[in-house]
Amino acid sequence: MEVLIRERKEDAVALAAQVVARQVRRQPRSVLGLATGNTMVALYGHLVELHRAGLDFSQVTSFNLDEYVGLPPEHPASYHYFMEKNLFSRVPFGATHVPDGMHAHPPECCDAYEQAIVAAGGIDLQLLGIGEDGHIAFNEPTSSLSSRTRLKTLTPMTRATNAREFPPGETIPAVVLTMGVGTIMESRHCLLLAFGAAKAPAVKAMIEGPISAMCPASALQYHNHTTVLLDEAAAAQLSMKDYFKAAEAGKPDWQKRLLEDR
Ligand code: F6R
Repeated sequence: MEVLIRERKEDAVALAAQVVARQVRRQPRSVLGLATGNTMVALYGHLVELHRAGLDFSQVTSFNLDEYVGLPPEHPASYHYFMEKNLFSRVPFGATHVPDGMHAHPPECCDAYEQAIVAAGGIDLQLLGIGEDGHIAFNEPTSSLSSRTRLKTLTPMTRATNAREFPPGETIPAVVLTMGVGTIMESRHCLLLAFGAAKAPAVKAMIEGPISAMCPASALQYHNHTTVLLDEAAAAQLSMKDYFKAAEAGKPDWQKRLLEDR
C-alpha cells in the first residue's frame, strides 16, 4: 500500500482530485468506481471545479459502490440523490450506474451490476471511504473477502452513524446493495481517503492489522495498487507513520510516481 499523510484534510482531497483528473485525462473513456459519504463531498467539489476548468467526463463511465434497499432515487438520503446533488447534476458523464435499491429482484440486479462492470472493461480507478468498523462500500465486518455485489445487512453501528443522513425520526434501512470486497479488489487502482480521529482505529486495522474479515478494508493489503490518503488525525494510531512520511520525503518525485502510468 502507498500511504500518504497530509497535515490538512484539504491537501489530501486536492491530491485525490489530481489523481482522478490524471486518470480521466490519460484515458478519457475511463471507468470510475465512485463512493458516497462525507469524505467524498469535498472531492466531488474539486471535480466540479476541474470540470468547469475544462476536464471532460463526457466519455467516462461510473459505477457507485452501494445503495439502501427501499429508498427511491428522490429520497434525500439515497445514494442516487447524493450523487445527483454532489456530482452528476453538475458534471456530465458518459454513463453512470448506481445499484437500484428499488429493484423487485435484488439478486438479479446484483448479478446484472457485476456483468455491467465487466462489460465496461472493469474499473480503472475506485474511490473508497472507510467506516469506523473497517467497512469498505457496505461490506461490514465478517463480510467474505471474495464477496461480489449482493444484499448486505448493516450493523447497528453503521446505521447509527448514518442516521445523520436521514430526516429525524425516519427509520434507516437495515439492508443495502453493495459491491463486494472481491468486486472492489478487481479494480486496477484503489484510492481510499480517510480523515479525522474517529477513523484512526479502522485505518490502523486496515494498514497494520492482520488481513481479516473483521476489517474488510484489510483485504486491500493484497491489492497491488492501492493508495491511501490520510490526514494526521486519521493516521495517528499508525506505528509505521514516521516510516510512511520518510518514505515519501525520500522520493522527491513522489507525486510524479503517484500519478504515473502503471
Ligand atoms: C459509501 C461507502 C461507505 C463510506 C464509509 C465512510 O458509498 O461506500 O463505505 O465510504 O461509510 O463514510 P463517510 O465518508 O461518511 O465517513
